[in-house]
Amino acid sequence: MNEAIRIATEKFTKLLEEQMQRVEKMKSEKEFLNYDELDKLVIGIVGGDGIGPAITNEAHRILEFLLKDEVEKGKVAFKVIDGLTIENRAKAMKAIPDDVLQELKQCHVILKGPTTTPRAGDPWPNIESANVAMRKELDLFANVRPVKVPEQGIDWTFFRENTEGAYALGSKGVHVDNDISVDFTVTTTEGTERIARAAFEYAKKNGKKRVTIVTKANVVKTTDGKFLNICKEIAKEYPEIEVDDWYIDIMTAKLIDEKRRTQFEVFILPNLYGDILTDEAAEFQGGVGTAGSANIGKRYAMFEAIHGSAPRMVDEGRDKYADPSSIIRAAAMLLAHIGYAEKAQKLEKAMDICTNVEKKLVITGRDTGATGAEFADYVMETIKAL
Ligand code: IPM
Ligand code: MG
Repeated sequence: MNEAIRIATEKFTKLLEEQMQRVEKMKSEKEFLNYDELDKLVIGIVGGDGIGPAITNEAHRILEFLLKDEVEKGKVAFKVIDGLTIENRAKAMKAIPDDVLQELKQCHVILKGPTTTPRAGDPWPNIESANVAMRKELDLFANVRPVKVPEQGIDWTFFRENTEGAYALGSKGVHVDNDISVDFTVTTTEGTERIARAAFEYAKKNGKKRVTIVTKANVVKTTDGKFLNICKEIAKEYPEIEVDDWYIDIMTAKLIDEKRRTQFEVFILPNLYGDILTDEAAEFQGGVGTAGSANIGKRYAMFEAIHGSAPRMVDEGRDKYADPSSIIRAAAMLLAHIGYAEKAQKLEKAMDICTNVEKKLVITGRDTGATGAEFADYVMETIKAL
């Protein structure tokens, strides 16, 4: 055998072994953690990079305000985790330094600011994205992203598979020789069943009538084909819910079809298509800066802003003017997830009033507008007045 092929094959063997271990782990972790049974629920607060610490701090203040009684009674505790910065990650040459990972694992749920993702050509070593690594390390398999534009009849919830697909081995592709490079995409039975079930359960509990499966199974036949088939199998357990399936290319078009798009409710997608489609979808709502995102696993859950870390704002001393809306929306999702639905609704409502209705303060990202702290105060005042 050609030497380059032999070396590549060895690497592939190792990757398959790792994936088999991951499947075994998934099979052994069937149950969701029940928050009601905990003596004390620990909420981790992770600032991240760039504007992350500034905006996350504002969301943290709002959570402390809403959970004041629970903290006093000892039912809830906050744990601020520093150190998930690009400087530390570069120093450790790891997507998440070991000490930070250990601290994350002491929490039940995490609120996370944006983290800088190194890419080829920038000054940082090309290590894996901290986001992607956290999703894998904590097995946060369901990336739930809601998008709502009530005046246009848009009310979508995306269930993006978060640990497999093109991301499973995204930083483990193989340069076989100078001519050939190969990446891999992975679909597992267990991994697809759990995301499909999460989406259908959500639809059932929330009175949604339709679930839409998005793949490119006509071309990516093996992995997307499997994803589609398994989703359809799971759908049979939910006969009351209508199911349709679309290919990702036409789906991106249908989201801008005003007549068609209001018919969609819940989506299930493999990782990469979910990444792309949720950015497009968030744009209708005012851009990725307005959207929150939940990453749910059986043991852990992490809630994050879906925009970047905007290092330029920090360089120019403007981080205090950064808009904390996205991370505050994520904080509302966190509250709902840990069982404080009423507090979550209050926060959502106050956010709607502050950003869409009353708009007493406007954030411009510069000293021409309000600071994030002033905005968070405004949100808390609005909650008090509800
Ligand atoms: C997202 C982001 C991440 C992703 C990046 C930062 C790695 O785009 O959360 O959608 O691709 O998942
Ligand atoms: Mg994305």
